[in-house]
Amino acid sequence: MSISFEILEEDIFGRTGRLKVGEKVLKTPALLPVVNPHLPLITPPEMKSLGADALITNAYIFYRSKEFCEPALARGLHDVLGFDGIIMTDSGSFQLSVYGDVEVSNSDTLLFQRSIGSDIIVPLDIPTHPDTPRDQTEKELVITMERLREAGEILGPDAPLAAPIQGGSFPDLREQAGRMAGEMGCTFTPIGAVVPLMESYRYEELVHVVMAAKKGLPSSACVHLFGAGHPVMFALAVAMGCDLFDSAAYALYAKEGRYLTTHGSKKLAELSELPCSCEVCRRHSADEMRKSPEKIRLLARHNLIVTLTEISRIRQAISDGVLWELVDERCRSHPQLLRGYRALLTYAEDLGKRDRVSKRRFFYRGDESCRRTEVLRYQMMIPRFSVGPKVLVTFDRLPSGGVPEYDTVLLFKPPFGPYPVELKETFPIGQCELPEWDDHMVITGCRGIRALIAGNPGVSVTVRCGPEWAAIVGRELPEVRLERN
Ligand code: GUN
Ligand code: ZN
Repeated sequence: MSISFEILEEDIFGRTGRLKVGEKVLKTPALLPVVNPHLPLITPPEMKSLGADALITNAYIFYRSKEFCEPALARGLHDVLGFDGIIMTDSGSFQLSVYGDVEVSNSDTLLFQRSIGSDIIVPLDIPTHPDTPRDQTEKELVITMERLREAGEILGPDAPLAAPIQGGSFPDLREQAGRMAGEMGCTFTPIGAVVPLMESYRYEELVHVVMAAKKGLPSSACVHLFGAGHPVMFALAVAMGCDLFDSAAYALYAKEGRYLTTHGSKKLAELSELPCSCEVCRRHSADEMRKSPEKIRLLARHNLIVTLTEISRIRQAISDGVLWELVDERCRSHPQLLRGYRALLTYAEDLGKRDRVSKRRFFYRGDESCRRTEVLRYQMMIPRFSVGPKVLVTFDRLPSGGVPEYDTVLLFKPPFGPYPVELKETFPIGQCELPEWDDHMVITGCRGIRALIAGNPGVSVTVRCGPEWAAIVGRELPEVRLERN
């Protein structure tokens, strides 16, 4: 396979990486703007100047175009579009079902994509709508996988082939599709048919679908989330291990007079200010943008810049190990995204297996933070503390004179739990920022004390805390001795 993917840094399931397609290299996570050659609101060279190193276009549009088909076959896609970066072509399974006037088979589109010099070729998959019943979803998945196998035969083992992962809303089918693609040696795997979920804000289902596909896929596969272009959900998708997005949203929203932000989109008609630092918004007032004959282009340019900027922000967040904070922030923009975030937190145990051990910091941002991977990972380490037969866990400072009647004295930091003083400066105990303790944090911290007891059966544990926490500790840890201070 001439597509290879190298993971550089990880945070949650998110990663920064290098996608290599032939000799071309792309930093990930990355956004591939969608180019429609008939209506280029932003030309490919302009996209490049804004920082897009790859783009995606639709092979079906070229195939049926009187204007573009011949030039693309004669001169190649890169020359026609004026873009020397990575160009992925979609087979246009969606478009085919809408226009459908020119019939295209799997082998037609594969050979056509190769002939026009596509860097990443997509077979003719069937994007099964998420509301499709199981038997039909299964049948369509069989066809998609068969076409993928056929693509390998037609194009050869080294072809830069994408393996679409279908399976509708059935987690086991998504997982199976992911596993089969991995077994076929596919290194580039777009997750398909999620557009209807995103269009109707069904983010909770999106999380289950993506996490199921990821369960089957090898972690080394580069994952593209097909049709995801709104920047508000990139952080959530990256946290699940999605590496690439393709955005038509920047253009579609512009045509509808909509202004993208990282926390939702707004109608330009309703804006009195342009709250953005991009060049378009600094050079125009909201009123000027509205009245400009170039309104749609200006909006598209702003929308694309916002989208690309969010991708840069996510790459930096991964480097810094603060992706959870970004996910938390973005997902509070809409209640349905918050549901998606909470759904992702139910996978914390799986996510924790890949999440990195040390990060720059842990910012407590509310109840959801108690369910994060860092808390779980820390508590999974607690049973390994070696302690004497009599243990004191103190909610206060370490007593200056020591506590001779105990063999081991541990401090307490919720939501993590007990810690020996030697861990005071290490992540996460030493690098966490907490507000005043609340019930949720202390209850989660008590779970850490339970982990200590479970790992050291037979020890006697005393908890020393102020009266404000005595009731919670008594209820959460009926087996410990309580000492008031
Ligand atoms: N674009 C958005 N979703 C899909 C999909 O499932 N398959 C293909 N080929 N393209 C898409
Ligand atoms: Zn702007």
